[in-house]
Amino acid sequence: MAHVFVSRRLPGSALDRLSAVHDVDVWPEPGPAPAAEFRARAADAEGLLSMLTDRIDAELIDSCPRLRAIANYAVGYDNIDVAAASARGIPVGNTPDVLTDATADLTFTLLLAAARNLPSAIETVIRGEWGPWEPARYLGYDVHGASLGIIGLGRIGQAVARRAEGFDMTVRHTGRRGGVSLATLLASSDFVSLHCPLTPETYHLIDAAALAQMRHTAILINTARGPIVDQAALTQALHAGTIAGAALDVTDPEPLPKDDPLLSAPGVIVAPHIGSATHRARERMADLAVDNLLAALDGRPMPHQVGREP
Ligand code: GLV
Ligand code: GLV
Repeated sequence: MAHVFVSRRLPGSALDRLSAVHDVDVWPEPGPAPAAEFRARAADAEGLLSMLTDRIDAELIDSCPRLRAIANYAVGYDNIDVAAASARGIPVGNTPDVLTDATADLTFTLLLAAARNLPSAIETVIRGEWGPWEPARYLGYDVHGASLGIIGLGRIGQAVARRAEGFDMTVRHTGRRGGVSLATLLASSDFVSLHCPLTPETYHLIDAAALAQMRHTAILINTARGPIVDQAALTQALHAGTIAGAALDVTDPEPLPKDDPLLSAPGVIVAPHIGSATHRARERMADLAVDNLLAALDGRPMPHQVGREP
């Protein structure tokens, strides 16, 4: 029986499978544990089930001498210093596949909502500003037949591309699986959607220069990680009309402060990081994280270990 710290309560019953064989400490409060509390609870854990909002850096790993498994409750793992964990022989697991469709669905939700100005149109109804039907009010952009540029054609990028086929969109992509150059994609896309992981190479990939290469009618969609976009540059580009809009499920930081200048930029939609937020996806993520921990604590390879091809 190993001691496991789980940094948040999880939907579904997956944690019961973990508690049946291990000594499990689940942080009981609704919000994240304060840093000192997190450290204290993780200090003698052999297994750690972390959220994408938990920063598992070299220092934290050092302060957990008995740690031998980290299971992140996310597909992204930029919050974890995987090199530091690997140096200690600690496997790191993630939760791929089970959230791919939920995240691709949310990507399309944002794309459609931004193209048709849906949030601001609905807001006029709520505010009593509907007014008589107008030929030239509430105009947005066509989605069907438009061009979509996918940056990062991984599992989620491919799932978005499949949805785009149903809208007769022309799809281009960049990434390791061939495709076009970033410059070509930016210049030729009505919608640009980000699906790459956050790494040193993708940090601020969409900066002022990249935004300047986009069409002035283009809409940027980000359901990947906030820091892939230079948010100050994006705010400025929206004000300047360099691009027409941005629909973001991720920002830098999260949560975004209420008075952040991005929120008052024209054509922006911000969702509170809900890409995987369906009942089913979040329960299956818990299953995968628990599977990863059960395997590693038992001395077996994690079913979904990062930094290692399956
Ligand atoms: C969510 O952002 C995830 O990486 O799972
Ligand atoms: C993430 O899981 C991706 O491969 O897109």
